[in-house]
Amino acid sequence: MSERRDGPLWGGRFGATPAEAFERLNASIPFDVRLAPYDIRGSIAHAGMLGRQGIVSEEESAELVWGLRAVLEEVEAGGFSWTLSDEDVHTAVERRLREKVGDVALKLHTGRSRNDQVALDLHLFARDAAGRVREALVEAMRALVEVAGVHQDLVLPGYTHLQRAQPILLSHHLLAHFWAFRRDLVRLDAAAASASVSPLGAAALGGTPHLVDPRLTAADLGMTPFENSLDAVSDRDFALDLLYALAVLGVHLSRLGEEWVLWTSPEFGFATLDDAYSSGSSIMPQKKNPDAFELMRGKSGRLIGDLAALLVTLKALPLGYSKDLQEDKEPLFDAVDAVLPALAALPEMLRTARFDGGRMAKAAGGFALATELADFLAVRGVPFREAHAAVGRLVRRLEESGVPLEEAPAEMLVAAHPALAEVPRDLLTPEGSVANKKSPGSTSPSSVEAQLREARTFLGGF
Ligand code: ARG
Repeated sequence: MSERRDGPLWGGRFGATPAEAFERLNASIPFDVRLAPYDIRGSIAHAGMLGRQGIVSEEESAELVWGLRAVLEEVEAGGFSWTLSDEDVHTAVERRLREKVGDVALKLHTGRSRNDQVALDLHLFARDAAGRVREALVEAMRALVEVAGVHQDLVLPGYTHLQRAQPILLSHHLLAHFWAFRRDLVRLDAAAASASVSPLGAAALGGTPHLVDPRLTAADLGMTPFENSLDAVSDRDFALDLLYALAVLGVHLSRLGEEWVLWTSPEFGFATLDDAYSSGSSIMPQKKNPDAFELMRGKSGRLIGDLAALLVTLKALPLGYSKDLQEDKEPLFDAVDAVLPALAALPEMLRTARFDGGRMAKAAGGFALATELADFLAVRGVPFREAHAAVGRLVRRLEESGVPLEEAPAEMLVAAHPALAEVPRDLLTPEGSVANKKSPGSTSPSSVEAQLREARTFLGGF
């Protein structure tokens, strides 16, 4: 039984062993070795089913399961070694199993193909990864809610066109990211659900004459069985679902990261990062850079690329296994590996950051309060367009005379519109402006309080 050592496990009909250059191109073992725990878990389910269905004897099934557990232990202890001639993780595990339990290992692949096997492995990886990202994301959401709660009353400008627009509560801003992350959780859960379908039992593409029971293996793995063997081996939608969820999450992280890059610049000066989450320059001694937030911004590029890569690989690929499908793994691994470290850093970065409430409030004053005046007039029956024009003229005059809006003399207000004579001065503060909001989901303190309650209730469910 030295066949395996002389060539690949499919080498029966070949007169020569693979050329080295082909072997190097063909092999997925350098990157799919990380699927080993899932591969073995799937093989244990398969071996158990083979025994229960009488395809192999109960003793053979038990031996296979015992051997696979031993290989799994080796993998978990980091002692599993592979060579390029193993080609892929499936072959490497089978080779190692044979070294442990002998020729009974040759029966493991009955009623199975590497096509349903690799699809299963990737499903298991994707389900697990979606869960890990979900957990890390919930931690970041917790941090957002905590920081929002601690700084509930701080105000800063909200921006449109990156121009100061209107004052908003910092807590409102932080919670805006919370709700975006909550939508990411929905997408991650959907990706985990589509990954929870087991392709095992589809064999190469059309099923198998052996009386395999896909329901048994699926149940063993906490999955539901496939409906169509050809679809089962061809489908990579679950990987796309996860890549899409990660790409959108990456975009969310990039938007948050960009804001913090701005906020921590001296130009804004709204926040300072803890030293433990900043880095310096090799030449400019004064520098304190927000690298972590820049990386959150930067990693979105590769996350979008990973999704695009798999979409393009799948486009126009005929049903059934083609070796192109081997290209499904690296983008998925890359995306998971890009998101997890960013999410791991984020919660403490948020918790340890310091805010300069004075600077934020100052930036949130001035002309950022102009809408307040227009709304004051509109509430008193002045058509909004007229009110807008009147306050616009006032802004122009104030700008020309270099007077801040808060200090606009009464005669200037009245000249813009007589009804402005009665404008309460405390409305012309960032705090007064946010307190004046009455619409649901607004930045008013009571509305943000309600959001915080809702967010805490949501997180309480974890
Ligand atoms: N290494 C392969 C992959 O990653 C496993 C499936 C091989 N199947 C085949 N028919 N050659 O996709």
